[in-house]
Amino acid sequence: MIVAVLAGAIMVPSEAPEVRAAGGYPMKAAGGAAPNGAISATNSPGTVAPVNCRKVKCVALTFDDGPVPQTVNLLNVLKKYNAKATFFVLGSQAQAHRPILRRMVAEGHAIGNHSWSHPQLGRMSASAIRSQLNRTQSVIVSAAGVQPRIVRTPYGQMSPKIRKTLVKFGAPMIFWTVDPLDWKYRNTTKVTNAVVRAARRNSIILLHDIHPTSRAAVPAIIAKLRAKGYVFVTVPQLIGSHPTAGKMYVHG
Ligand code: NI
Repeated sequence: MIVAVLAGAIMVPSEAPEVRAAGGYPMKAAGGAAPNGAISATNSPGTVAPVNCRKVKCVALTFDDGPVPQTVNLLNVLKKYNAKATFFVLGSQAQAHRPILRRMVAEGHAIGNHSWSHPQLGRMSASAIRSQLNRTQSVIVSAAGVQPRIVRTPYGQMSPKIRKTLVKFGAPMIFWTVDPLDWKYRNTTKVTNAVVRAARRNSIILLHDIHPTSRAAVPAIIAKLRAKGYVFVTVPQLIGSHPTAGKMYVHG
């Protein structure tokens, strides 16, 4: 499902995110999804303790394409190490594993929208893109009781059409800073070393919880980065609670 490499040019913002408020957490849904799937502005804060990434060395672990049943093992690891992460879930997978989404939220992790079925959105019409996002949003809201406010497009694709759709949808695009190519290198040590070597303050780290080798890398990644003073936060914690819709965030 993730064998294709990035198609087309990636737009990288030249400036750092202007919004850096501390906090920013999975929001409780205020009466469910809006009819058009747009993200409600009336959400109230969740219960995760604030972390000020201006004062501490933050990094955000992100896991794409799940959940799968084995994501539970990863949640156990994150709980054991008391590390928070962000899961960019597929709607189709979320629908099949709703209790896992509930557990993610209950344990302080953030959930993002990674489309319904992982298509190349760059090849789709605006209405088809909206459908991919809205269906996924509805499942997450009904399964986990939170409105995801962040999107990561499959393959990290961006285009003027996708951006416009995200503006209307009300969510930013979350790219990444560190990519160990874990879908390609199914080697736990290699993935661990690539992440630890490349991670910097406010990095967004891309991993996939669908791969056993990637899940197995997480304990060492956490231990080694923590030894360097890093704190593991969610993407909303990293980029602030009021990200700009349609903007692409590459790091905090
Ligand atoms: Ni993906």
